[in-house]
This record gives sequence, C-alpha cells and structure tokens, in this order.
Amino acid sequence: MTRTPYLAANWKMNKTVAEAARFVDALLPQIAATQHDVVVCPPFLDLHEVVERSRGSAVRVAAQNMHEADSGAFTGEVAAPMLVEAGVDAVILGHSERRQYFGETDEALARKVPAALGAGLEPILCVGESEEARDAEQTDGVLEGQLEADLAGVEPPRLADVVIAYEPIWAIGTGRTATPEQAQETIAFIRDVLRGAGAEADRLRILYGGSVKSGNAAELLSEPDIDGALVGGASLDPGDFAAIVEAAG
Ligand code: PGA
Repeated sequence: MTRTPYLAANWKMNKTVAEAARFVDALLPQIAATQHDVVVCPPFLDLHEVVERSRGSAVRVAAQNMHEADSGAFTGEVAAPMLVEAGVDAVILGHSERRQYFGETDEALARKVPAALGAGLEPILCVGESEEARDAEQTDGVLEGQLEADLAGVEPPRLADVVIAYEPIWAIGTGRTATPEQAQETIAFIRDVLRGAGAEADRLRILYGGSVKSGNAAELLSEPDIDGALVGGASLDPGDFAAIVEAAG
C-alpha cells in the first residue's frame, strides 16, 4: 500500500496572528501542486487565521494540544469541540515538550487520543526516547510502553487513524538528527508493535521528527517506513518548509 506523505509544521510557541498570516500567504503558492498531506500546527490564537487563509488549499490545520473533556472547569485549557468548530482538522498530542515541561502523562493521553478521534480530529501522537534510554538500549521498551499506554483507549480498527510521530528527545531542537537508518529501524519497530496491537499497519502513517531540515529531509523520507516529518525549527520559514514538502517526492 502507498501511504500519502504527511508533512507537519510544528510552530511551537512562535508567530503572532500577523506573522501566521504572512507565513500562509507565502507558503500556499509554493505548495500549490502538492499531493501530500500538509499540516500546519500553530499556537491556539493563530488557528482561526490559518484556517481562514488556507481554505481551498492543500493545507490542513492542527492544534498543538487539547484537553480530554468537552467542557468544564479547566482554566487555561481548550477542548476538542472548540477546535472542530474553528475548522481545525488534527491535534498534536504528547509532544515531548508537553511531557517534559507541562506534566503531560500517559494516563491523560490515554483519554485525549480517543477524545480527539471521537470529536473527528486526527491525533498526531508523539513518542520518543531520551538520550539515556537510547544509550542504555532501552529505546524499544520505552516506545512500546508509551504506545501501549497512550493508545489503550483506541479500538484496533481506529488505530490506523492515529498519526504517530517518532521524535527521539535527543534530536529535538539540537541539530542532532537520527540517522536515516536509526529512524527507519525504530519506525519499523513501531509499525510492528501496532500491527501486533491489531492496527492496519500498512495504512498507518508514522512520521519522523527531530531536527528535520530541507537538507536532510529527502534522505530521511526515502526510507520505506518513514511516511513524513514533524518539523519544528525549520517549519518557521515558508521556503524551508515548502522545500521539505518537496523533498517528500
Ligand atoms: P525540531 O522540532 O525540528 O526543531 O527539532 C521537532 C519537534 O519538536 O516537533
């Protein structure tokens, strides 16, 4: 089965509404011919602007987090129905920065992933090992643990509706990229784990993330199991991100 390449721009906490508008206006003509899935993930406040400006284009829009409840007394949080009404298509869940700095837990993710699917949002679930875990050869165990815990509430027929982003923590924002062989090997392992859990593994899209740039994207994306990229730093410039979309073939 051929899987449509999936390129996602994770802006993190960057760009005001005006800056987001300029980015979309610059990006759209550069990706006008693409057949790939192109997803822009701006901060909450920019979502509306990016949805409006990218209407009718290949760009789909994702949030960077959400709460698992539909509404309630959760000051500072945003719920799936709010994202859906705003025209958002997808949501990043479990990014390592949220796990590390904001106490995101596997228990919460086990509720967030099915809540996103139930609301009609495509979850982009991030998993990845620390440098210590890789050095101690515990990568497989860490990933298996995260996948099992975070996807515990998803029925097997829906597992392939989740996009997985494999982001080794030691490669995020460090300029240190996993080699294409390392990324391929680990992503193939993730696909096997999810096949074992009953997923339609040939349909499942698994992205690599961690210091992806226009200069290394083609090599990473040519690996058979790497279906796309979750791009941080290099996604802030429309030309750089368009070059990564182009590198996916
Ligand atoms: P980076 O970030 O491309 O800046 O390493 C990737 C991510 O954290 O999603």
